[in-house]
Amino acid sequence: MDKPDYLRHEALIEWVVEIAELCKPDRVHWCDGSEEENRAICKGLVESGTFIPLDPVKRPNSYLCRSDPGDVARVEDRTFICSRRKVEAGPTNNWRDPKEMKSVIHGLFVGCMRGRTMYVIPFSMGPVGSPFSHIGVEITDSGYVVANMRIMTRMGRAVLEELGTEGEFVPCVHSVGAPLVPGQKDVAWPCNTEKKYIIHFPEEREIWSYGSGYGGNALLGKKCFALRIASVLAREQGWLAEHMLILGVESPEGEKTYVAAAFPSACGKTNFAMLIPPASFKGWKVTTVGDDIAWLKPGKDGQVYGINPEAGYFGVAPGTSEKSNPNAMATIRANTIFTNVALTPDGDVWWEGMTKKAPVGLIDWQGRTWSPELGTPAAHPNARFTAPARQCPSIDPDWEKPEGVPIKAFVFGGRRSTVYPLVYQSFNWTYGVYLAATLGSETTAASTSNVGQVRRDPFAMLPFCGYHMAAYFNNWLRFGRNIMNPPRIFGVNWFRKDKDGNYIWPGFGENIRVLKWIVERANNHAKGIESPIGWMPRYKDLNWEGLEGFGEERFAELMTVDRDAWMSEILSHEELFMKLYDRLPKELIFIRELTISSLWRAPEHWEFSEVSMEPTED
Ligand code: GTP
Ligand code: SPV
Ligand code: MN
Repeated sequence: MDKPDYLRHEALIEWVVEIAELCKPDRVHWCDGSEEENRAICKGLVESGTFIPLDPVKRPNSYLCRSDPGDVARVEDRTFICSRRKVEAGPTNNWRDPKEMKSVIHGLFVGCMRGRTMYVIPFSMGPVGSPFSHIGVEITDSGYVVANMRIMTRMGRAVLEELGTEGEFVPCVHSVGAPLVPGQKDVAWPCNTEKKYIIHFPEEREIWSYGSGYGGNALLGKKCFALRIASVLAREQGWLAEHMLILGVESPEGEKTYVAAAFPSACGKTNFAMLIPPASFKGWKVTTVGDDIAWLKPGKDGQVYGINPEAGYFGVAPGTSEKSNPNAMATIRANTIFTNVALTPDGDVWWEGMTKKAPVGLIDWQGRTWSPELGTPAAHPNARFTAPARQCPSIDPDWEKPEGVPIKAFVFGGRRSTVYPLVYQSFNWTYGVYLAATLGSETTAASTSNVGQVRRDPFAMLPFCGYHMAAYFNNWLRFGRNIMNPPRIFGVNWFRKDKDGNYIWPGFGENIRVLKWIVERANNHAKGIESPIGWMPRYKDLNWEGLEGFGEERFAELMTVDRDAWMSEILSHEELFMKLYDRLPKELIFIRELTISSLWRAPEHWEFSEVSMEPTED
């Protein structure tokens, strides 16, 4: 085995040799992360038909990739948490006995890389050397994964050097599960159409992934490491690993406030993280720290500090446009990998929502000629772009600061066409944990489960928490007790619909109106009044300059707290609580009771006009 001369980590070498003996690849390649290496890997992917180079002027150094039509999203029902005891994984995870799973793994991985190159990718989640950072090593037989990991993480030589002779790393093994017999021609997207397994051993801190090449199934630094394994580490060490974006807000007076927000998959994190306020909203600016994952720790000064452990964006393409997210459009103008989008005749990409009208002569995500009459989408609904974070025009100057940025507010929101108002603030940390624990959302194409049904997605972490969800709630309560200045906690809902099924709220850039109220509340200088579920802005507490056609009545429709709707909502919170009964923190039961009590006292349709109370600061 050829290995780099700067590699000095005996345990790592031993492990790589062991995996090579198991998987039997034709070659082993240690990734150094260099330009030349990337060029060679992309060239190989073009030759194998995996990558289609895009037009070098329109989309420099960028590629289109089409996956197997059966390998297009995370596979939640094939994702396993193999703690020694079932109770540790909890009722919201698929648990398997680790001993049994080890023997399944052996069966799957023996000779699984025959005919392929085995790549060894040393990567750091978080800036190399930051006290927040953790190192992993992904072994994979997919060049596509190498090209993506190079964008999504800090990868290569610097990481091996940081590891030194005995640094700790999380071993991650990935195979597409498609060995080649001598002379067999490879397909453009190798994967295993029958067997897929995404396996985590939280106690040993090991990840094994088999059969899929797509996104979170295969880029193991992301959901598998930075969320499922990291959530277990975080619980042991007193920090938080979250499915959150981090953004900075600058007021016209120059006050800078960082906010972390958790929305479930494909519910608007990238959009919110890169928000551009409308021109009428003078002097306000949003900067981007991260769009998907946040690692948070208590600082010595009693505040919460956070980093984005990733180095790139694996963003949802459909719906991204110059109108909805110009920063994302600028980020993906070069050096980007597009997966499952449509190809234009002039060698560029397209997807639903990029422009009103589709260009003529498109090739769809499955490589077929396409026209609107077909009635099928040209891009897969979970089509994605992989782009370097540093290319984002709104990137925050401190996004790679080793000590992180101070977080003043947490925001939670799902897709809810009914019940939930545009924005409200929890009365305190414990109410906030209740709000987040009971988060619900209509499901999206980011996972292969049914789309469009409301499901509980606590903290937007349902598919990503590596241990018992109720113990995770407890970790949040404990975290809150150990910080002097806990961030304020807010709920938002951009997705409430009117009787005709249209979104009431314009969303996107207009979300700054809500964000402004949030940061001003967090900094103790905005008004709000007490509703049955938390503090809320009145119409006059938000800035409406430049937003036509949005009057008090429309606002009331967005903000109404309907007693009956909330009572049945709380019944469905209760269903989650029942499921988590064995470890549910008692605080959540009390908050539920207090919420019922205030709803009981409130008018049937709670609106501001019916309230005689004087506004207060807090
Ligand atoms: P993951 O990468 O899957 O974790 O998701 P994400 O939360 O980053 O998703 P993203 O920001 O890419 O969400 C995209 C979807 O949300 C698209 O369908 C957008 O149109 C929609 N979206 C984002 N912001 C808004 C908004 O303010 N209002 C409405 N109505 N839709 C929005
Ligand atoms: C998500 O599904 O929340 C994602 C995309 O961010 S993936 O990396 O595929 O999980
Ligand atoms: Mn995500």
